[in-house]
Amino acid sequence: MANFKLPKNSQIGTGKSYDHAQGAKRSRTFSIYRWDPDSGENPRVDHYRIDLDKCGPMVLDAIIYIKNEIDPSLTFRRSCREGICGSCAMNIDGTNTLACTKAIEDVADDVKIYPLPHMSVVKDLVPDLKHFYAQYASIKPWLQSQTPAPPDKERLQSKEEREQLDGLYECILCACCSTACPSYWWNSDRYLGPAILLQSYRWLADSRDEATGERLDELDDSFRLYRCHTIMNCAKTCPKGLNPAKAIAEIKKMIAARSL
Ligand code: SF4
Ligand code: SF4
Ligand code: FES
Repeated sequence: MANFKLPKNSQIGTGKSYDHAQGAKRSRTFSIYRWDPDSGENPRVDHYRIDLDKCGPMVLDAIIYIKNEIDPSLTFRRSCREGICGSCAMNIDGTNTLACTKAIEDVADDVKIYPLPHMSVVKDLVPDLKHFYAQYASIKPWLQSQTPAPPDKERLQSKEEREQLDGLYECILCACCSTACPSYWWNSDRYLGPAILLQSYRWLADSRDEATGERLDELDDSFRLYRCHTIMNCAKTCPKGLNPAKAIAEIKKMIAARSL
């Protein structure tokens, strides 16, 4: 269950300030959550004022600049730098999003950066996603089919069948939606959350998959599926413009339809 008060060792202390923007025409301060489990110290927020003419236009560019030029101990995940891998997901200016696709100029004031909320922190901006990935594995996210594939070609879909996957296949599993979902905050031990449920529907909607019954059996559970209360934070925050709440509603419709 949720704690409503931070334990003493999680309370955020006063951090350090770095000014690397003397003489800059355009500058900005980045206030970044820092926590090193090996230090034994409480988390803190460090403030870095940097010259925007010395780094690229995205928040990830600024974080990379800070790591390279000011503070090599700053820890974060990133890979593709173009919104494909999902690894740079973090909370920027109060919203879960991808640091590599969030423009610095879209933040009005100081840029406040925290790890994805309501997850254990490994270090600084790196959340612990082990449970999230275990939930993903639990839905068997691969094509299940008894019918052998044709020997000389792929399993084909019509144009219409393929279109059923639009709005689903684009999910990059960044976890922005699940970590913005109040139901997931309170019940992530048992509720699958919007990202994993959208992925579940991605296989339910696939005309080539033949495990629909088993997949629905697994999902038909008051916690795994029905903790979604249509609060819609997931759709609001998804950096790829997807709508997990709609996918969840489609799963509920499929379960209702088969009981008629
Ligand atoms: S639905 Fe959107 S926010 Fe959620 S994991 Fe997929 S890409 Fe990320
Ligand atoms: S619509 Fe459902 S999954 Fe999305 S944020 Fe709300 S409760 Fe969570
Ligand atoms: S670095 Fe890959 S999505 Fe941002």
